[in-house]
Amino acid sequence: MRIGIIGCGRIGGTLARHFSAADHEVAVSNSRDPESLAPVAQALPRVRPVTPPEAARFGQVVVVSIPFGRYRDLPADELTGTTVVDTTNYVPERDGPVPELDGLTSSEVIQRHLPAAHVVKAFNTMRWDHLRDFGHEAGALERYGIPVSGDDDGAKWTALDLVEQIGFQPVDVGGLADGGRWQQPGGPAYLADLTAGQLRARAGVPVR
Ligand SMILES: NC(=O)c1ccc[n+]([C@@H]2O[C@H](COP(=O)([O-])OP(=O)(O)OC[C@H]3O[C@@H](n4cnc5c(N)ncnc54)[C@H](OP(=O)(O)O)[C@@H]3O)[C@@H](O)[C@H]2O)c1
Repeated sequence: MRIGIIGCGRIGGTLARHFSAADHEVAVSNSRDPESLAPVAQALPRVRPVTPPEAARFGQVVVVSIPFGRYRDLPADELTGTTVVDTTNYVPERDGPVPELDGLTSSEVIQRHLPAAHVVKAFNTMRWDHLRDFGHEAGALERYGIPVSGDDDGAKWTALDLVEQIGFQPVDVGGLADGGRWQQPGGPAYLADLTAGQLRARAGVPVR
């Protein structure tokens, strides 16, 4: 699969490494010249540095891993019809006030900014170094769970599959409103580092 990554820091860079290891073609971008990501691309097979609009056009799936407060920079036209995996969290001291959040989860705000994309929230609940190190081979008896929420079933299935491919057990926690609340800072899944079964039990999420 072709995967674009917008924001290639701790989380985006970790996912680039995992997706490359899972044999995907990956295009990574940040806020600067793509040349700044040349060392990342040189260190990983099938990874190329590009601009954010190029990453958006390249990806069948596009991961967004920037500070949430910069969400208006995401290229909406280039993401038409694309599955967008949102790893972001709203961090007030970093992101400042975001009036659009009134009553909405951060992923719903991003979905409104990208009306023609299919936004899924995933990879936002685990510290980046745990995301790097805690995955296990498929078939391991116990794996850490990663919650996934989204309003488009096809897009959500794609994200659930990617979670599985990089060694974690996906947990479908519903739509961007309820599921997003479950995943965001202050929610029961945030920084929980639990198995999938423990995650479901913690908030009474049914097995889907
Ligand atoms: N760190 C964690 O453990 C963790 C865990 C879960 C979720 N998250 C969330 O995931 C997101 C990324 O966190 P992180 O820790 O990976 O951040 P990070 O290490 O600071 O990396 C952020 C990346 O986003 C890029 N970026 C910033 N503004 C951009 C823009 N307008 N357009 C394109 N790229 C832009 C940065 O590029 P430059 O270097 O060029 O500025 C950098 O590559 C945040 O929303 C964070 O809250 C983080």
